Amino acid sequence: MSNRTFTMIKPDAMKNGHAGAIIDRIIKEGFKVKALKMLKLSAEKAGEFYEVHKERPFYGELVDFMSSGPIIAAILEKENAVDAFRKLIGATNPANADEGTIRKLYATSVGENAVHGSDSDENAKIEGDFMFSGLETF
Ligand code: RTP
Ligand code: MG
Repeated sequence: MSNRTFTMIKPDAMKNGHAGAIIDRIIKEGFKVKALKMLKLSAEKAGEFYEVHKERPFYGELVDFMSSGPIIAAILEKENAVDAFRKLIGATNPANADEGTIRKLYATSVGENAVHGSDSDENAKIEGDFMFSGLETF
């Protein structure tokens, strides 16, 4: 089991002023920040990142949304990081997310849901490598 996961604070949470509160919560939950940066994805890069969803009906909307404004990307370390982080962010649709989870507190809708969290150790590694160079990762 790997101890790292990858996250993005999505454009809705950035625009709504929640980035600081989200990072503070993540650190207070015991995750160590191993890489962090703010950037704006091009539509091409956002499409590449979410390529697994290419055939889904929401793919176009997702790509437009994820390239609509700046994001903060990070690599996080904690024991059992992938599962622990998915638990902290809550269900994809904030309407179904548990009380106190990041999506319950800060997400707008199922499409604009404040944060990304990797769904497996394998994808955490792929996604972290997609967004960060070796010089940016600690
Ligand atoms: P993420 O990858 O961003 O952490 O989200 P997730 O695992 O909880 O959900 P996933 O199924 O991987 O979907 C990726 C993102 O696509 C958008 N989405 N929109 N309109 C819709 O029905 C719909 N369904 C998914 C969300 O932004 C979701 O986080
Ligand atoms: Mg996912």
